[in-house]
Amino acid sequence: MKTAPEPSDSHLSEAALPSLDQPLPTGDAKGDAVQAMFDTIAPRYDLVNRIMTFRLDVRWRRIAIDCLRLPAGAVLVDLATGTGDFCRELAEHGYASVGADFSFGMLDAARTAEPLIQGDAMELPFADASVDGVTCGFALRNFVDLDRVFRELARITRPGGRIALLDASEPDNPLAKAGHGLYFGKVVPFIGGLLSNRDAYGYLPRSLAYLPPRDDMLASLQAVGFADASHRQLTLGAAQLMTATRA
Ligand SMILES: C[S@@+](CC[C@H](N)C(=O)[O-])C[C@H]1O[C@@H](n2cnc3c(N)ncnc32)[C@H](O)[C@@H]1O
Repeated sequence: MKTAPEPSDSHLSEAALPSLDQPLPTGDAKGDAVQAMFDTIAPRYDLVNRIMTFRLDVRWRRIAIDCLRLPAGAVLVDLATGTGDFCRELAEHGYASVGADFSFGMLDAARTAEPLIQGDAMELPFADASVDGVTCGFALRNFVDLDRVFRELARITRPGGRIALLDASEPDNPLAKAGHGLYFGKVVPFIGGLLSNRDAYGYLPRSLAYLPPRDDMLASLQAVGFADASHRQLTLGAAQLMTATRA
C-alpha cells in the first residue's frame, strides 16, 4: 500500500502526466498518473471545482441523489469519493455512506464525518450484495478499466439497489459544444493553473476522450446486471448522469 505523499502545488513530474502533444496514457501508466495527479491537486481541489463549475457540481450531486429513490437509512458506497462531497450530501439526505478512493491526498483533504477507505475501484473491499447503492462523481473517465468497475458495482450492490454515476460531458448542441470546448479547454486550465496545477487542469479536459459513448456505457451496465439503465444530460450537457437498478 502506498503512503500519503506531501501535497504540493508544484508541477507534476513528467512521468505522471503526458504533455499536450503526447497521447493519453492507458493501463497501469494511466492509473499511476491519475493517482499522482489527484494527490497533487487535493489541497485546492474543492476550491477549483466550485469556481470552475459555478457551484453546479453541488447541484448535480443533489440531482443524482434524488434519482436514487432509496429508503432513508440506506447504506451506500461513494466510489472515488475524493474529498467526500457526495458523502456529505448523502448524509444530509438521510443515507449512510462509506467513501472509497485510491488517492491518499484526496482522502487526507476530505471534509466529511462519514467513514473513508483507501482502495481501488477495480477491486473494492466490500462483500457481494452488501450495499443498497453506489454513487460516483466525476471519476468514470479516470478508471483504467471501466467495465471492470461496472462489474464491481454489480457485485457489491444488492438486488433492487440503485446506482447514480455522474461525470463531465460534452453538449450535443453545436453552439453549446463550441462554448463548452472553449471554456473547458482554455479557461479551466487557466484557472486551474492560477489556483492549483496547470498540468492537471490541462489534462482534465483531455480526459473526456476516455469516456465511451453513452449508449455503450448503458449497454455495459445492462450486461453486468443492471436493469433500466438510463442516461440524462444536465445543464445543456455539461454533465451527464447515469442511473440503474441492480436486477
Ligand atoms: C474528479 S475527482 C472526483 C471526486 C469526487 N467524487 C467529486 O464528486 O468531486 C476523481 C476521483 O477519482 C479517484 N479515482 C480515480 N481512479 C480511481 C480508482 N481506480 N480507484 C479509486 N479512486 C479513483 C481520484 O483519486 C479522485 O479522487
